[in-house]
Amino acid sequence: MKPLIAPSILSADFANLQRDVEMLNKSEADWIHVDIMDGVFVPNISFGFPVVKAIKKHAKKPLDVHLMIANPDNFLKEFKEAGADNLSVHYEGCTHLHRTIHAIRDLGMKAGVAINPHTPVNVLQDIISEIDLVILMSVNPGFGGQKFIESTFQKVKYLRQLIRTKKSKTKIEVDGGVDLKNAPVLVEEGADVLVAGNTVFGSKNPSETIALLKSSK
Ligand code: DX5
Ligand code: ZN
Repeated sequence: MKPLIAPSILSADFANLQRDVEMLNKSEADWIHVDIMDGVFVPNISFGFPVVKAIKKHAKKPLDVHLMIANPDNFLKEFKEAGADNLSVHYEGCTHLHRTIHAIRDLGMKAGVAINPHTPVNVLQDIISEIDLVILMSVNPGFGGQKFIESTFQKVKYLRQLIRTKKSKTKIEVDGGVDLKNAPVLVEEGADVLVAGNTVFGSKNPSETIALLKSSK
């Protein structure tokens, strides 16, 4: 199965956001990955609602919003209104994760849970059947363009097993340092969705790079 490709807008040219979103519309990208960082949960600040709305205005593909913020519960409705189709929160940032997930679904979005590189996959075993997607962080969240953490391959494998055992349809998304070399291995181990920021926007021909990622196998 071909993976879904979710280019990360964090690496786009913010002075030419409309141009870059239109490039993604015409490309083989499946989702547009939107990273929200608050300077508290992660040591960086990205952007907020006005920028998400501006992306949504031009996007013809679903917005895959990844929240790296403290107290995400306070903002779920606002992200729905700003245009999020998928909304992912961090396991490490939610005390009442089950409640948060159901609140996301009740608002009509797909619910995802992201886990940091140090968090084992098995913490998800009692929630896996109730979520649409898991984001396995393959870098420490906060910045684009970081080096892929190799132990992620093994985590994809474990997670695939867990999903199979629970007979769930949850998608596995890998986020951070994905490139043309590790993409086929990730797909082989069972990844369904590949996020790529620097690999796409740092390349000479982003649209062609998306097509190459899409054909990873
Ligand atoms: C990292 C973000 C990623 C990032 C990926 O905190 O969650 O989505 O934009 O960028 P690359 O592919 O450049 O590592
Ligand atoms: Zn992300």
